[in-house]
Amino acid sequence: MSLQTRTPLVAGNWKMNGLLSSLDEVRSLVKILKSKQAANSEIAICPPFTLVGAMAECLRESDVAVGGQDCHPDQSGAHTGDISAEMLADSGARYVIVGHSERRHDHKESDLVINSKVQAVWRAGLVAIMCVGETETQRDQGKTLDVVTGQLHNSLPDGATAENAVIAYEPVWAIGTGRVPANSDVAEVHAAIRGHLKERFATGGEMRILYGGSVKGSNASELMAIPNVDGALVGGASLRAEDFDAILEAYRP
Ligand code: 13P
Repeated sequence: MSLQTRTPLVAGNWKMNGLLSSLDEVRSLVKILKSKQAANSEIAICPPFTLVGAMAECLRESDVAVGGQDCHPDQSGAHTGDISAEMLADSGARYVIVGHSERRHDHKESDLVINSKVQAVWRAGLVAIMCVGETETQRDQGKTLDVVTGQLHNSLPDGATAENAVIAYEPVWAIGTGRVPANSDVAEVHAAIRGHLKERFATGGEMRILYGGSVKGSNASELMAIPNVDGALVGGASLRAEDFDAILEAYRP
């Protein structure tokens, strides 16, 4: 299947940022989107749990989807402080980010745990945005492709399809640093991910592979033009409507 058949996805990950007042940015984004030519991409924002419901309400009449940033593997139960995928669905979410490097690092999440979380996302009828990516040390040691394909092998369950799974390649050292890999390095990793997906899944050629790590308006067009880059997972630049819209420019005709 050719590149054109994969509708790109630009997803914002607000991380631990945002209060109810931040919904003003979302309202501004909707206004900007209405005033411009539609981008040839799907758009999603993944706010902290506290804002999922309110943001979904805010975006109800728009084409912008809402997502969570994590979920517990179980549907419900005695797990103080956790949120299930069903709860996210109930609050209006369509996507759930799973296995972000900050969760792998801060919460010691293993590939096995992430695998069970992806299955939880599917159980709730949502779409998993599953993250993979190497640390700077791993890159320096020449282990990038092994690390990334190993993460895919262990964290992405059998049963992934172009409809229920999106992969996000986020080099850990590029997150929040302003540093971005060379285009050829992005191309190499995305091609390896594509190869893995095609080998394992019937719709592996149609699954979207996002790039994440210091994406902003000034580099989005170049990054999004790289083969097998089907959109972006955006951190810092997704917090302000104008900055996020500048990234969407990459997909405006
Ligand atoms: P930045 O865009 O702030 O580098 O963050 C990327 C990221 O981690 C998105 O999930």
